[in-house]
Amino acid sequence: MNGVGLHKKLEENTGLLIFGILLVSAIGGLVQILPSLFQDSLMTPGENTRVYAPLELVGRDLYIREACSTCHSQQIRSILAEVERYGPYSRSSEFVYDRPFLWGSKRTGPDLHRIGGKYTDVWHEIHLTDPRAVVPDSIMPAYPWLAEREAGADGDIVAKLTALRTLGHPYTDEDIAGADAALEGMTELDAIIAYLQMLGTAFGREEAP
Ligand code: HEC
Repeated sequence: MNGVGLHKKLEENTGLLIFGILLVSAIGGLVQILPSLFQDSLMTPGENTRVYAPLELVGRDLYIREACSTCHSQQIRSILAEVERYGPYSRSSEFVYDRPFLWGSKRTGPDLHRIGGKYTDVWHEIHLTDPRAVVPDSIMPAYPWLAEREAGADGDIVAKLTALRTLGHPYTDEDIAGADAALEGMTELDAIIAYLQMLGTAFGREEAP
């Protein structure tokens, strides 16, 4: 059968056409997925990549609860405009302790992957409580309740760390034993700021390629 014959057959036979479409998209999927399963560099933590401290982990869960990723991405692409604006592009080795990833796909606000260390804690405190107080034309919503709630209110941090250790995150017995104490006296605002301040710090800003 020549190429034209096969084409005609595919166009006239719906079942065959569906099979062909599935086959072609499966190849596309496999090309994307397979390397990530076998390439060690994608799963090995970077030199300075570490697990989240208890307070940071609570902050990360709050980032999910408040759906910050509907407006903010956490992935700096390896193109000049992004690297100049945000800092070194994101490496997969920096995300090995992120379950799930919070890369996001929408940028109503700026990318936050290298936000750690960019502002002081006080700046974040004011900004999260009332964004317009520091950025007059900001369209970011205010999150005043974060300052009023205790950091540990939304779940059992010891259980969370234990579950993550089961998945291979290297938490020590001391980390887990001290987790409740690490949250004592802390608000949700402290937690989310602790999380923001460590974002992207495994890779220094000055190390831009
Ligand atoms: C409706 C969209 C929207 C949501 C939801 C949102 N933001 Fe924003 N964010 C923005 C916009 C727009 C800006 C830029 C103006 C500004 O700085 O306020 C911004 C700026 C920021 C900045 C400063 C970035 C920089 O480099 O100057 C931080 C930090 C931040 N947001 C954190 C958060 C956190 C944490 C949450 C969730 C609690 C959140 N945002 C939710 C839209 C949003």
